[in-house]
Amino acid sequence: MNALTKQKEELQKIAATLAESGKGILAADEPLEYMKTVLNDIGLENSEENRRRYREVLFTSDKSLGKYLSGVILHPETVYQKTKEGILFVRLLKEKGILPGVNVDKGLVPLYGTNNETTTQGLDNLARRCEEFKNSGCWFAKWRCALKIGSNTPSSLAVSENATVLARYASICQANGLVPIVEPEVQLEGDHDLQRAEEVTEIVLTAVYKALKDYNVFIEGTLLKPSMVLPGRSCSIKYQPENIARATVNALLRSVPAAVPGIGFLSGGQTADEATENLLCINSYAGKKPWALTFIFGRALQSFVPNIWKGKEENITSAQSELIKRAKANSNASLGCKD
Ligand code: 13P
Repeated sequence: MNALTKQKEELQKIAATLAESGKGILAADEPLEYMKTVLNDIGLENSEENRRRYREVLFTSDKSLGKYLSGVILHPETVYQKTKEGILFVRLLKEKGILPGVNVDKGLVPLYGTNNETTTQGLDNLARRCEEFKNSGCWFAKWRCALKIGSNTPSSLAVSENATVLARYASICQANGLVPIVEPEVQLEGDHDLQRAEEVTEIVLTAVYKALKDYNVFIEGTLLKPSMVLPGRSCSIKYQPENIARATVNALLRSVPAAVPGIGFLSGGQTADEATENLLCINSYAGKKPWALTFIFGRALQSFVPNIWKGKEENITSAQSELIKRAKANSNASLGCKD
């Protein structure tokens, strides 16, 4: 077997493990500025040590967490952090049967000449960083792009630029043995209806898969992290979760190859309960669904955890129970079962 075939086999195996039935991924890669809000809200300073302590609460949860999670996305600083007993978080997670991965993008930047649209930076030195993360125990990576819906957006420039940057990122990850999670988020802001969100999602995802193909990305060794198809936050029409499920599955069917092993939705902008309910409806929807449809949630898994913890030793177990409860509910939803 030549080296490329062997590498593809390994990538496919990692992606299949991440997409295992009944499991999802915890996004714990919140940027430093976001962690400032989380920690300040519970009266803690946004120090590296407090971020480590918070992540320690998440990752030292009971090993039952591994029944519901296949992976955790880490912030780069967390890859090198340890428990207070000196165990690397990446090792601790692996021992629970959870694969550690890492966010490798460097954030959104304006796309010149557009109506406040963005691209994502971080390609410089990416191959070297991927190699280091792989050697430090990471199995996959994440890169987020964001697209806005407006009367003239997303522009064709934003669609093509973000598809291209995701494809280049994915090819660099695969060349260094990491499975890329490809995240083209279609944002909630706006008053657009569900149909417009469905159309835009199709346009964006079609461009992303064309670019991935153009860059020789091995599709079986990737995961997709899209938004659910939702009406804009200011849309006056109210839709049922069944309408959201139909629009989401249809948009995905028209644009995502069946070779993709798993699609894990982000929860952005929904409440924890809404995200779980919509995931359940998507999985209960009676249409063709050739991929695992699961969760890669940040806020929908964690939003209540900091407030229960409050930085206090005696609250750790209750905070962990809340995380496990949410992970279990979403695991059930990914199987189409109510809790
Ligand atoms: P949310 O589920 O909170 O949207 O976070 C997921 C994520 O990782 C966004 O990049």
